[in-house]
Amino acid sequence: MTLSDLRRVGLLGGGVIGGGWAARFLLHGVDVHLFDPDPSAAGTVERTVIDARWALGRLLTSPLPAEGSLVVVSSPQEAAAGVDFVQESAPERLELKRHLLAAADEVADPTVVLASSTSGLRPSALRSGLRHPQRLVVGHPFNPVYLLPLVEVCGGDPSTDAAVQRAVAVYRSVGMHPLELAVETDGFVADRLLEALWREALWLVHDGVATTSQIDDAIRYGPGLRWSVMGSFLTYRLAGGEAGMRHFLEQFGPALQLSWTKLMDVPDLDADLIDRIVEQSDAQADGRSISELAARRDDCLVAVLQALRGLGWGAGEVVARHDRALEARAATPSAQVPAPPGPPSVDQRERHLAITFADGHRGDFHHLWLRDNCPCTDCLHPQTHERVLDTFSLDPDIAPVTAEVLDDALAIDWPDGHRTVISLDWLGARCACSDCRLAAAPVPPRTWDAAIADDLPELRFADVVADDVGLAEFVEMVWTTGFAVVRDVPATAAALHDLAGRVGPVRETNFGRDWHVRTELVPNNVAFTSVELRPHSDLANYEAPPGVQFLLCLTADAPGGDSTLVDGFAVADRLRTEEPETFAVLCDVAIPYRFHDDDHDLRWSAPVISLHPDGSYQEVRFHNALMEPFDLPVGLVERTYGALRRFNQLATSDDQRIRMRLRPGDLVVFHNRRVLHGRDAFDPGHGHRHLLGLYVDVDDWRSRRRVLQRPE
Ligand code: OGA
Ligand code: ZN
Ligand code: ZN
Repeated sequence: MTLSDLRRVGLLGGGVIGGGWAARFLLHGVDVHLFDPDPSAAGTVERTVIDARWALGRLLTSPLPAEGSLVVVSSPQEAAAGVDFVQESAPERLELKRHLLAAADEVADPTVVLASSTSGLRPSALRSGLRHPQRLVVGHPFNPVYLLPLVEVCGGDPSTDAAVQRAVAVYRSVGMHPLELAVETDGFVADRLLEALWREALWLVHDGVATTSQIDDAIRYGPGLRWSVMGSFLTYRLAGGEAGMRHFLEQFGPALQLSWTKLMDVPDLDADLIDRIVEQSDAQADGRSISELAARRDDCLVAVLQALRGLGWGAGEVVARHDRALEARAATPSAQVPAPPGPPSVDQRERHLAITFADGHRGDFHHLWLRDNCPCTDCLHPQTHERVLDTFSLDPDIAPVTAEVLDDALAIDWPDGHRTVISLDWLGARCACSDCRLAAAPVPPRTWDAAIADDLPELRFADVVADDVGLAEFVEMVWTTGFAVVRDVPATAAALHDLAGRVGPVRETNFGRDWHVRTELVPNNVAFTSVELRPHSDLANYEAPPGVQFLLCLTADAPGGDSTLVDGFAVADRLRTEEPETFAVLCDVAIPYRFHDDDHDLRWSAPVISLHPDGSYQEVRFHNALMEPFDLPVGLVERTYGALRRFNQLATSDDQRIRMRLRPGDLVVFHNRRVLHGRDAFDPGHGHRHLLGLYVDVDDWRSRRRVLQRPE
């Protein structure tokens, strides 16, 4: 079963666990039919969905499908009718669970799996009396269900294999890690472990050895951290060292005979012990509410999972795999089944308007977002198009009194009498469903290696300055490929400034508005000597190094001095797939850079590779000559040098780097925060070499690109 086959699930029980299931399914685009005799269940589910949206939104980089809808029904039969999967999460009472499962069994199609969230009851006990007993399996999750990947899946009988496999597929499709257990046992695996620990914890409190807070600290400052990485056995294997697991067992096995623990004895949970635990636990919580603690728990779990994902390990691998699956799904054009084309319509929901556009596409628009984006002249300044409305004075729970489609616009009347009319085209262009977000995602840079030398991105100056079409081609080429070579440029400062000025203002730096690259008697920069310049980014020592660099060749009759370029994003990308640990160091360790002369002392530290939050490349920054002594703890020194050495090796390799000879009138323009540049050493005793350079910033480059792309 893939996510696209799973359209609707029936949930029996909407407490903490049922609510967590509801959130996980809804956020994966699955409709949920929920039965719970408690009328407050719907509210619990809604709050859980809000928490889950926040947590998953930060954890996953790929877009989740458009959310499913929640329907609260009034009987277990209604919840199970016509669904693809049933999950029961009622309190741990055998009779109650059997009653609910029997009701579902009556109405659900016989191929539909019934799964129970029970933490301890055996599937054989749960299925007795069902008409289709082989479809019942245990699917035991962990709180918070929307965030923790583990679900123990147990049929306990070979005749349930098919149902187990279907349940496994359902859970995988919503990003979980199903742990298949062939043998049924009371408490399965995780709860047996947890109970053993819990029993000891109760004894420790009972005997006055430790408080609840000390016990929690004993876990979270030590063993708990390594549990999330290696569990028990792999951790102990390490404790055995090179001598191995056998040695560990021989060395520490005998200690098991000492009765440190209370083994199977259970402390009497009498009033005294309960009072003591409650009192200590209240002190430990220190006035923090359950929702505060849950939010803190979720934030920390997201952080741990993200860290593990970066390292490609354990539960982090599950997250990474799920992200890839979601991305692939979003990239499938059929992810949303459009309604047949017809007149546009609007449907008012609890917190948003669901709009069906004339082409059949559907999009959801939040009430508050719609009010905030009212284009009327009271809300938006008619000349500047900037917001006059005070966004933060709006009622966060605002909802339309009426909403209707009038011709090609959406008209909304708000409770205070304000009226909003927004064109459907404008809304359609801002639809945030996963299809539209994907379609609107920026074109990824076209990375290249040394093979690009056979097909250089080249233009002629006359074409670039002829009209906006030529200029647009130039701007686009530099943006996507990271560089362009412009030929036949008049070898004058005026021509260089003329071309740069067509894109944006010149970015002045400590070297001035423009600068001459030639040997100087008293150089303040290696570029102004005749030595080799290895691949580098200019002004790596600035917080924001200049974005696009222009280098115009005026004279080139000295032997040597060929120019080199290498795509920093391509080098980074190779490391990302081939050597993730090197990549991680280059992303994490800030390298200090400095330029100083009589009048300046410019310093900044930044990692070689910076990523956008979605994982795409923001910048590559590298300049050996400007590197300051690292202010690193000794333990990080070798790894940092190692990663930089590897980066430099790739950046100077014949696979990645191109070399070309500039002649007078050749202009090379490149994205200085992506493409590294350099030159060979030259011989100033046998000729001259003279370049003129300047910079234009990335913001201005992007702005010109957008303006040039505007429809007529
Ligand atoms: C520089 C530089 C390149 C060259 O001035 O920063 O890299 O070809 N010059 O001299
Ligand atoms: Zn308005
Ligand atoms: Zn340079």
